[in-house]
Amino acid sequence: MRLSEISFFSTRLSMPVSRVLYLFALGLVCATADANAADAGRGSAIYAKSCSVCHGDRGDGNSWAKGQMRPPPRDFTSAQAKAELTRERIIASITHGRPGTAMSAFGSQLGKQDIEAVAEHILTAFVAKPRPPAQTDTTRSADMSASMPNRLSGDAVKGGRFYMGNCATCHGARGDGQGPRAYFINPKPRNFLHPDALRQFNRPALFHAIASGKLGSEMPAWKQVLSEQEIADVAEFVFRQFIRPAVDKSREGKK
Ligand code: HEC
Ligand code: HEC
Repeated sequence: MRLSEISFFSTRLSMPVSRVLYLFALGLVCATADANAADAGRGSAIYAKSCSVCHGDRGDGNSWAKGQMRPPPRDFTSAQAKAELTRERIIASITHGRPGTAMSAFGSQLGKQDIEAVAEHILTAFVAKPRPPAQTDTTRSADMSASMPNRLSGDAVKGGRFYMGNCATCHGARGDGQGPRAYFINPKPRNFLHPDALRQFNRPALFHAIASGKLGSEMPAWKQVLSEQEIADVAEFVFRQFIRPAVDKSREGKK
């Protein structure tokens, strides 16, 4: 009699208990999801308040402070940042600062959770953010036999003269992005010998890149001062002098 009563109770109970457990587990999941969302919000709020003044709203180091500091504030969107900035390093740099630079230690102003939240924000909003396909696509190369747009055909000799007079100061006479002015500017001038450039810059890509320049950098939009023919000339020079030989060389290396 007593035994059956107990088993009766336990079967009656087992349902609600498992349901309670289930709901509890669900609650935990929701709570962590909420916490993540809250952290992301908190991270970006801290960033806006304490970091963007130097690192820029877009995390690219473009801020009023850029020209005032040696070294300049980190560009979190650069390929270098992507390669170097692990979560641990970011947290360590925020906590302890970078001695000898304008990056001060935030360990006394921000709690551990705040530091983690802002590190997470930097990682997700800037460092790990996908780049425009032309630059990230490491598998596919542009068609290197493509010709200039608008049926143009560039004169590499004329283009070469223009390049040496007007582009080499930033991009270097060898196209390696190490011209005399390069040291002073950020982001750095394109290195045409870099594997990313070799995948990306066929003739039409060069033409458009030179014509339109790069907003937020020192790369001018040359269509303001050059005719389409002149742009094609200098694009042809860059292609023949830097891109194509380097592409050929890297292909040979793979064989
Ligand atoms: C006064 C300007 C300034 C402020 C404000 C500032 N930073 Fe920096 N930060 C810098 C500079 C300059 C560097 C580059 C230091 C270097 O090259 O070693 C840097 C570098 C970094 C780095 C990379 C360090 C590394 O390991 O290479 C991280 C991460 C960083 N800052 C995060 C932050 C965060 C997060 C905040 C806000 C809580 C912040 N910074 C606020 C100037 C600043
Ligand atoms: C004052 C310095 C400066 C001069 C002069 C200059 N560039 Fe640039 N150029 C840059 C910088 C900086 C970048 C990189 C921008 C970036 O990475 O966001 C760049 C990028 C480029 C790119 C790649 C653009 C892209 O979409 O990624 C090409 C191609 C280029 N320059 C060609 C030229 C040619 C050709 C000339 C001369 C007609 C020239 N540049 C003159 C600074 C300069």
